[in-house]
Amino acid sequence: MLSTVCKPYKEIEEVVKTFEEQLELFFSKDFENKTKNPKQDENLGQVFTPTILASFMINILRNELKHNSSILDPCIGPNTFFNAMSEDFLNCNLKGIEIDINLVSEQIKKFYESPKRALIKGNFFDLPISEKFDLIIQNPPYVRQELLANGANSKESIRYNVSSLFTTIPSQSNLYIYFLLKSILHLKEGGVMVAVIYDSWLYSSFGKFLKESFLKLGYLDSIYHFKKSAFDNVEIGATVIKFVKNKSHIKSISYFPLNDLNDLINNTNLNANCLKLKQQELLTYSFNNHSKINFKSSLFQPLKTIVTEPIQRGTSAVVNSHFIFSKKELPELKPIVKDVSQIKTYTINQENAYILAVNGSVSIETKKY
Ligand SMILES: C[S@@+](CC[C@H](N)C(=O)[O-])C[C@H]1O[C@@H](n2cnc3c(N)ncnc32)[C@H](O)[C@@H]1O
Repeated sequence: MLSTVCKPYKEIEEVVKTFEEQLELFFSKDFENKTKNPKQDENLGQVFTPTILASFMINILRNELKHNSSILDPCIGPNTFFNAMSEDFLNCNLKGIEIDINLVSEQIKKFYESPKRALIKGNFFDLPISEKFDLIIQNPPYVRQELLANGANSKESIRYNVSSLFTTIPSQSNLYIYFLLKSILHLKEGGVMVAVIYDSWLYSSFGKFLKESFLKLGYLDSIYHFKKSAFDNVEIGATVIKFVKNKSHIKSISYFPLNDLNDLINNTNLNANCLKLKQQELLTYSFNNHSKINFKSSLFQPLKTIVTEPIQRGTSAVVNSHFIFSKKELPELKPIVKDVSQIKTYTINQENAYILAVNGSVSIETKKY
């Protein structure tokens, strides 16, 4: 799928020059055809942002405020972000969108009555890309691609009537990817987006596409990675990202590995754990928890340093069945299971298994094996 971005179909390549133009084409719509209203049982990804996290994100945005800044929240829910904004934001032009009219309370309607504020009760994918903003803040809906077949957020509604051959965004993408990419199109040059999203983009194949898109459209200023969770009752890792739509003045990424919201509540010094990554490292850096195994221990030796025969089978994983033995047939083999009573969550289907533990000298049999 990615190759279609790099090598678009010839006819399109002639018309569409840049990646941003490709995305614009992807999201372009015939505005006489508004999308459907959501069905009662449609999954709209309604997980709301806890107040402490909303305030944290607003603080990040505050540093970017200018007089009369225009700010978009493409999916306000109960108006979480704009409600949490302090007086510094009074002069801003605020636009909020929400598809689920059941969430738009009288209080929210009142909030948008003032002249510098606008509420759209409708679909973010209907907002023309010609509308641009200085700042965007959002918690986009998280809906898996399998559930994007029908309804208000169907892929058809998102990508309306564009050549069926032209598939810029990988089809496995979660709904939040479409929200982020369309939002970037709505940013003015130099504009800033702060968003909270689940952390699947750090590990998945569609996440790779998102990372490449960030690099093509601007740069990531910071990633706050809540590895355990950032939402009430949802035990999934999340990230708060700050993206800047500026290709000429690129900085390194400040990456903050955190646990959960307690790191914000306890006023932990976030900068103490901050890592600086080059923008390109976004594509290669391993954001997983680091291994607890100490590979520097003398137990671990590169295979090529201990063999006399040529290596015929490579290894692709830390624990590879090629190197797990069911019998103690070599002197250096050590049982993997030492004390079965300590095992709480796993079941084992053999009495024992052995692993090569080369600590010091290596026997001739093992070298030959
Ligand atoms: C994850 S919630 C976040 C709500 C709020 N911003 C917050 O942070 O608490 C996502 C919101 O997006 C709304 N939504 C889903 N699809 C939408 C669409 N296509 N256009 C606008 N809003 C949409 C949902 O109804 C939901 O309120």
